Amino acid sequence: MMKDIEEVLVSREQISEMVKRLGRRISEDYAGKELVLVGVLKGGFIFLADLMREISIPVDMDFIAVSSYGESTRSSGVVRIIKDIDLDVVGKHVLIVEDLVDTGLTLRHLKDLFNTRGPKSVKICTAFDKPSRRKVEIEVEYNGIEVPDKFIVGYGLDYAGRYRNLPDVCTLKEEVYAKKH
Ligand code: IMP
Ligand code: MG
Repeated sequence: MMKDIEEVLVSREQISEMVKRLGRRISEDYAGKELVLVGVLKGGFIFLADLMREISIPVDMDFIAVSSYGESTRSSGVVRIIKDIDLDVVGKHVLIVEDLVDTGLTLRHLKDLFNTRGPKSVKICTAFDKPSRRKVEIEVEYNGIEVPDKFIVGYGLDYAGRYRNLPDVCTLKEEVYAKKH
């Protein structure tokens, strides 16, 4: 696995610092409110697990699974709900927790969807952001680390189902994409 890495773009130390910063802000902003974190599977599970432990107020959580990618490195723009959340979010504050905002299509869809379910608010928290790739306008209230327009893996982010377990966010060597799995 390590031999496939070209470069570490965001180190585990930088990630940990970012998670602490966002956790502190969320704890202050949602104090006294009923907060539900909705992690976007699969990529968001590591970030959600880390972020939740940096939140010092009572918080509930759930997961939603979406698919927009298949095995390619480009978004198809089609968002498919594979698994919905179990919780009722009526009267609650929903914070969608995502690994990365790229075109914004996934989160635009999810934000609109949750807004139809009677919550008090729906906001977005992302670990990584690629603003240069945005296709639709979307407000991201909690923004971790901005990354360049490069395909990245690690900290939950995958290429064809692999590399999610890398603790740092990395780019892969050209030859990895050229090769068939
Ligand atoms: P969007 O709908 O284009 O914003 O897609 C966002 C989703 O695409 C992210 O949650 C990731 O799962 C995936 N994605 C976008 N860019 C990358 C990348 O560089 N590496 C891995 N996954 C990515
Ligand atoms: Mg994702």
